Order: sequence, then structure tokens, then C-alpha cells
Amino acid sequence: MKKVLALVLSGIMACSLAGCGSAAETGEAASSAANAAVSEAAGVSASDVKAAADTASSVAGEAMSAAGEVSSDAQSAITAALSSSALSDGTLTVGTNAAFPPFEYIGDDGNPDGFDIALINAIGEKLGVKVEVQDMEFDSLVTSIGNKIDVAIAGMTVTDERKQQVSFSDPYYEAVQYVIVPADSTIATADDLKGLKLGCQLGTTGNFIIDEIDGATEQTYDKAIDAVNDLINGKLDAVIIDKNPAEVFVSKYSDKLKAIDGKDFDFDTEDYAIAMPKDDTVLQLGVNAALELLKTDGTYDKLVEQYIANYSAD
Ligand code: ARG
Repeated sequence: MKKVLALVLSGIMACSLAGCGSAAETGEAASSAANAAVSEAAGVSASDVKAAADTASSVAGEAMSAAGEVSSDAQSAITAALSSSALSDGTLTVGTNAAFPPFEYIGDDGNPDGFDIALINAIGEKLGVKVEVQDMEFDSLVTSIGNKIDVAIAGMTVTDERKQQVSFSDPYYEAVQYVIVPADSTIATADDLKGLKLGCQLGTTGNFIIDEIDGATEQTYDKAIDAVNDLINGKLDAVIIDKNPAEVFVSKYSDKLKAIDGKDFDFDTEDYAIAMPKDDTVLQLGVNAALELLKTDGTYDKLVEQYIANYSAD
């Protein structure tokens, strides 16, 4: 049976490699491969083989026509996006804050690198434009969109306040705030944070959470790692920052620090998305189409694996 299936599948694959367009053509290729397989199939009845081939070909046919529709819609959104004034110079100028591993950090060559940078480069490739990344303060990204930069990718959470100034792509990653505390700390619930000295990166959702904590003394930093260093030095009781960077920072000082899941503090989950000029709908649809293509062609999963799953703090 294995051999039969292999022959049937190879028929389908030959068809997709040769670029057969329609489900009917795929079906034909699969069933002719199946017929060829019949003579090979010792101990399997011809009707079994035919049934297996029919199932395989209809599944393949449906998948191919669905993929075809998705990608032609995506392709027209991408073409339309090129009329956005953001792309008129052929370059997507991207702002980030490269101090937020694994999403963005300064790589060995001195340039921004990380999951977000790889993702926006892949999006630029789908759009057919050059990508130029500028490293800047997180807190000035939103106001720089539409003047210094075209879009921002920076592990940026979609919030209603930001939506008044910029538009967002579809979400590309789910996050939550974590609480970093000294390894021997007894802090465990939202109530325990009241009245404490709390650190965060300026203008982040961690910052907005601290704003709401009763009696907390708030210390903001341009870079989250500086808050973490002050925590290690005993100047803070806790730092509030997104899950993945929290895990990266804590892994470097696991003898001194621990990271607690924000769920224990009733923090909401957050969605990361790419921020762009408000109401530039053609750009937004084009970026969303590119994202969708990267998800269907496996690039997105590959980047998660490469940059997030396998991130190693050095
Ligand atoms: N997700 C948080 C926010 O949107 C923090 C993002 C910080 N990003 C960075 N690249 N420093 O506010």
C-alpha cells in the first residue's frame, strides 16, 4: 500500500511541479499514477487503489485551488500596495528599537537583527521593495510614522490609544507582560505589587500597567535591560516587561532573577502588529497579504523556529 500511495503522491507532485493549474488536471495526474500503481500493487485490490487515488486527488485538488485563490487575492493586494506613498521611493523605511530580544537586538555585524527584522525583510521581499531599518527609541516610533519612517515593527502591542495615531497590520504574535523579580522574592499576585518600586521601558504596555498600580513608584528607562540591571542592583522591586524578552534577560541572570507569568497578576494577553500611517489602507492590505503568504508558504514558522524557539542569550 505504501508503494501505491507513493506513486499516487508522486503523480500529484509531478503535476504541481509542472504547474498544472486546475483541480481536474491534478485529479487526472493522480488517477493515471494510480492506474500505473495498480499493476505494481501486490496484494491490494484495484478498487482499493482507485479509491485511495480518488481521495488523494480530490484532497490535492481542493488544496491547490484554495491556495490558488488565496495567493491571487494576496497578489492583487500587493500590487495595489505599491501605489501607497510610503512605497513610492521603492523602499520601506522601518523603525524599530533594537533592545528587545528575541524580536530585535543589535546583531554581531552592528545592525538590527531578530525575529521582527527578519519578518519585515520577508514582507519587503513579497512587496518587491527594499527594506531599510532604523534603530530609535521605542517611545518615538509612533510619532515618527509617516515622517521619519514608513512603518514600525518593534514587538509593538496593538492598543486603542495607539490606534488613534496609527493603523496596525493583522497581529503576528501573541504576548503578555511578565514580572521579573529577585530569585528569592515572595511577590506572586497583583496585590503584592502595590506600593512597590517598579521599573519598565518608557512608553510600553508594561509602563501603562505600572501607571495603574496603587501606590507604586514608577521608574522608566529607555532600554529595558537598564531596568533589569537596576533590579539586580537592588534599586527596584520588580520589572514589568513582555514575556519573551523577560525570559531572555532572566536566562542571563538565572541565579539572581526569576520571571513570573503575567497571568498570575491578571494581565491581559497582547497582540504584536506592524504600525503604519493611519488609514493607509492599500499599504495595510498589502502588508497583510504579504504576512498571509509568509504564513502559508512556511516562512513565518521557520522564522519563529529560528529566532524565537532557538534564541540563545550569550
Ligand atoms: N509590547 C510592548 C509595547 O508595545 C513593548 C514593546 C517594546 N519593544 C521594543 N522594541 N523595545 O508597548
